Amino acid sequence: MTLDKLAETFSRVFERAPEIDVRAPGRVNLIGEHTDYNDGFVLPADIDREIWMCAAARNDRLVKAHSLDFGQTAVFDSERITKDERASWSNYIRGVIDQYHERGDQIRGMDLVVSGNVPVASGLSSSAALEVATAEACRILSGLDIDPVSMALLCQSAERQFVGVQCGIMDQFVSTLGRQNTALFLDCRDLSYELVPLEMKARIVICNSRKQRNLQNSEYNKRRAECEGAVGALNAVLGNVKALRDVTPEQLERHRDRMPELWHRRARHVVTENRRVVSAVDFLKAGDIRQFGRLMYESHASLRNDYEVSCPELDILVELAAAQQGTIGARMTGAGFGGCTVNLVASEAVADFQAKVAQEYHARTGHKPMIYVCSPSDGVTHRRL
Ligand code: GLA
Repeated sequence: MTLDKLAETFSRVFERAPEIDVRAPGRVNLIGEHTDYNDGFVLPADIDREIWMCAAARNDRLVKAHSLDFGQTAVFDSERITKDERASWSNYIRGVIDQYHERGDQIRGMDLVVSGNVPVASGLSSSAALEVATAEACRILSGLDIDPVSMALLCQSAERQFVGVQCGIMDQFVSTLGRQNTALFLDCRDLSYELVPLEMKARIVICNSRKQRNLQNSEYNKRRAECEGAVGALNAVLGNVKALRDVTPEQLERHRDRMPELWHRRARHVVTENRRVVSAVDFLKAGDIRQFGRLMYESHASLRNDYEVSCPELDILVELAAAQQGTIGARMTGAGFGGCTVNLVASEAVADFQAKVAQEYHARTGHKPMIYVCSPSDGVTHRRL
């Protein structure tokens, strides 16, 4: 499937031509995991795996959304939005329209067709991409005045308020504001950001463990609560601690006896990860990708041991990657409990890496991984057709 093919599908399904098409990318996070909801730093990049949408306005209030990948059509009143668990993919679309209403915007009815090649439930943010594509389609077709940062925030609140996942801002932000050949260094507290060029003799390689992410939402929310617990304990002694962002690793160690051991380990991941992101950006700018890679390995160890969001499959993928010649760094990426690893691999070693990691992972787990070499791409764009 391509965007052009999707336009043909739209015409077949709705017996008219689409007015616009939209593409919104998935993302890979290079470093800065589970820091966004702690007001910290992240460094994601958009990948060349995308959600595609073709759309046209209707003269009534109905939204008719057809998903090619799920083979389902969801029909609902754009002014009376309810969740539909039988077509759960459509809840991301519903949630975005619902949040536009919350802002006081009028949304026109629409016909739309959705497809894409971001693997679902793999930690590459297919849901954020769907939200961002929907927000962009609504913005154009309903003539709304909304800046990109507000649009990313709206998509995040669709996921939090409507879908019910207490996610941070990273995924929606980068799917909206990322740029080709760059990583986006984001301060999740004030949303200031910098696009850092990714011009290096290495490629970003994503290994999908194909392990279904179980327990992800409940464990995710548990981690958030543990971080909040640590914030409360640290604020009681230090004052002015609104989030783990406000705590240095040294302060945390000094006051570790103020909290349960578990909270201390969770907090230690976050405060050290924030430091790693800041250093990683400096190394990237200085062209020192070896040091960048070292921080990726450290990030993985911290996520595995302190934050406990890795799993045997992800650990095996990182271990196999580390054993290949030409691997500069490797870590799990995204929320964890399955999904993908991100690897920096010297360009000339990529083909060998793909073959060997695939073969050895299969031998050890019985699963065939999917391995993508990715090119950092642009955030959401649209075309009038
Ligand atoms: C998910 C969330 C993000 C972020 C990551 C972990 O992708 O949607 O906001 O918290 O997990 O870094």
